[in-house]
Amino acid sequence: MESTKKKSVSDFKPLLNQVTYSHELFNTTQSRSQEDISKFINILRGNYTRNLVDEGNGRYNLMLLAWAEGQGSSIHDHADSHCFMKVLDGKLCEVRFAWPSDSEEDEKEMEIIQETHLKTNEVTYMNDSLGLHRMENPSHTQTAVSLHLYCPPFESVLLFDQRTGHKTKGKVTFWSKYGVRTPFGAISAKMDKEDYENN
Ligand SMILES: [Fe+2]
Repeated sequence: MESTKKKSVSDFKPLLNQVTYSHELFNTTQSRSQEDISKFINILRGNYTRNLVDEGNGRYNLMLLAWAEGQGSSIHDHADSHCFMKVLDGKLCEVRFAWPSDSEEDEKEMEIIQETHLKTNEVTYMNDSLGLHRMENPSHTQTAVSLHLYCPPFESVLLFDQRTGHKTKGKVTFWSKYGVRTPFGAISAKMDKEDYENN
């Protein structure tokens, strides 16, 4: 959703700082040994996993997402946050959609506006003014790992049904935090329908 509020340069300063910092973090994570980051790479057969790396004193969430072959996310928004993403391993496909009508009565297949194939080391950016998206690992033979920075962090997202455009609210949770499996991960069998995947 496009904000109509006029912004000054100073409004963007925190964002620019975060972009610079996220770039450093991307590089740092990239240069860490495989052993260092392996605790964040939890590939499961069920759903992709969301693994928190750093919370930036509440200013952002940095996380590794680990995708088994063929796994994908729901179509989701970004809660008015900025999202930077880098593919660390494998390939990912991003499918972008136009925002559907707000009317509950309207039931219409969501419109695809862009499809991008991202290779290892490629970076992309997403926010609500660019639409909605779904990420997926298109490979049936190779896993994928991606690094995501959300600034500011958010606790819930809107999830969309591609066939109807209808939305539901989902809670953002993590399969692991700082390399340790979360209690949520341990009780994932009792997962609430509204939770955002298993993550
Ligand atoms: Fe996203």
